[in-house]
Amino acid sequence: MKVIYPGSFDPLTYGHIDIIERCSEQFELITVAVLINNAKVGLFTTQERLDLIRETTKHLKNVRVDSFRGLLIDYAKKIDTNIIIKGLRAVSDFEYEMQMALANKKLYPKLETFFMVSNMKYSFLSSSIVKEVSILGGDVSGFVPKVVEDSLKVKIKGGL
Ligand code: PNS
Repeated sequence: MKVIYPGSFDPLTYGHIDIIERCSEQFELITVAVLINNAKVGLFTTQERLDLIRETTKHLKNVRVDSFRGLLIDYAKKIDTNIIIKGLRAVSDFEYEMQMALANKKLYPKLETFFMVSNMKYSFLSSSIVKEVSILGGDVSGFVPKVVEDSLKVKIKGGL
């Protein structure tokens, strides 16, 4: 079974890595797909996000990392993969994720969304929290791998 794990990954956190590693044990091929969102300026460029994910997941042989623009369903069709993986951290994630899953299903009935319960250790964690803590000078070593932490430091030192 082939799956897509889509997201913004701005930046990748231990919560994302946990989902990717668990997917890697369950599925044949995982495509981590970074959304190219022209409407929203992120902290990291798409290329930087791709590089950080590639570096962090290089030990997983069935993980590939790619970017996409436009609708997720169109990307899913393009790479011939009709299972989407989403992580659920808390009930607060559910409403929005349910809405997206149903909209995607309506647009592309062959598409299935599989929800994975996030590891409890990381249920509080989000890329936004990581950025905020990092920008305000906090220690994010428990939130992201070293390579991401170092990249955050470089961004912040350079005035973002
Ligand atoms: O990490 P995020 O920001 O929660 O990821 C959201 C993402 C990228 C999975 C979602 O915004 C998405 O699929 N965007 C692509 C555009 C699209 O297909 N929108 C319609 C969804 S109903």
